[in-house]
Amino acid sequence: MRALVIDGPNINMLGIREPAIYGTQDYRALCELIRRAGAEAGFERTDHVQSNHEGDLVDAIQRALGAYDGIVINPAAYTHTSVAILDALKAVALPCVEVHISDVPAREAFRQVSYVRQACFATITGEGIQGYAHALDLLARRLSPGNAS
Ligand code: DQA
Repeated sequence: MRALVIDGPNINMLGIREPAIYGTQDYRALCELIRRAGAEAGFERTDHVQSNHEGDLVDAIQRALGAYDGIVINPAAYTHTSVAILDALKAVALPCVEVHISDVPAREAFRQVSYVRQACFATITGEGIQGYAHALDLLARRLSPGNAS
């Protein structure tokens, strides 16, 4: 099993950016957590990409087809605006989990729309960077033999 974790804009600023909302752990800590959590969830390979550019995220999703069994995605601000990312996820039709570090439902009205949610079988919010481990675990369970769902 191979998983691709995709992070959108400003996730590389973790630890610096609004620590009261996103925590004090930095992006390197997130990369390390993803590597460890992917292995613990049973993935032979867990790759991680981050970009501040919408088209790069679309390219990463398209390239996942045939290369990965599932996706964990935090599209960050593009969650709330990007039909292109939704369409890319629908195009590749890989099992996908949406993850957010902050408690998005408790935040501003403009964050309450998620385009990508339509293409995801689960959404995790408000668990900090640990939410990525939760997402990888859900993805692994979804991909396990015997789970037809
Ligand atoms: C976020 C929530 C988004 O609303 C925001 O634009 C982000 C990060 C999160 O992980 O909590 O950049 O996706």
